[in-house]
Amino acid sequence: MKKIALLSTLFVALFAVSSSAQLKTKTTTTKTTVVKKTTAPAAGAKVSAATIEEGKQLLSKSDCLSCHKTDIKIVGPAYNDVAKKYPANAANYEKLTQKIIAGGAGVWGDIPMSAHPSTPPADIKKMVQYILSLK
Ligand code: HEC
Repeated sequence: MKKIALLSTLFVALFAVSSSAQLKTKTTTTKTTVVKKTTAPAAGAKVSAATIEEGKQLLSKSDCLSCHKTDIKIVGPAYNDVAKKYPANAANYEKLTQKIIAGGAGVWGDIPMSAHPSTPPADIKKMVQYILSLK
């Protein structure tokens, strides 16, 4: 009798351990799925605060501000309006970087933006990332 009681206690203990192990595995799996879901849409749009700050600094040292202000249109559109028009994503970073390098008109009016062939494209991209972070 004693043996049976001991065996069944052991069995219950084993069962408890194995089911709690199963429970743990389940929780981990669910967590992984959630993390994947939240990071996927942000891919390509994720820009660090440091990069945005760098873009802001670069912008303040460039000629951009003679034609652009954050909140009002001067020669070129206000950066707030640019940020409203273009969602912050990889495609728009690329598109606007190319536009600033080449210059040109037609999107906001007939006045053209000057070309910026001597500014490093990587710097221009950071400025664009800063501009599109404005909302
Ligand atoms: C000579 C004036 C001038 C300067 C300097 C200038 N811009 Fe512009 N910018 C404009 C004008 C005008 C437009 C509108 C062009 C259009 O309608 O297609 C414009 C448009 C833009 C746009 C929106 C482009 C689009 O296709 O929607 C961005 C972003 C921008 N400028 C950023 C910059 C940055 C960054 C700099 C500095 C590296 C800069 N601009 C320097 C005049 C200027």
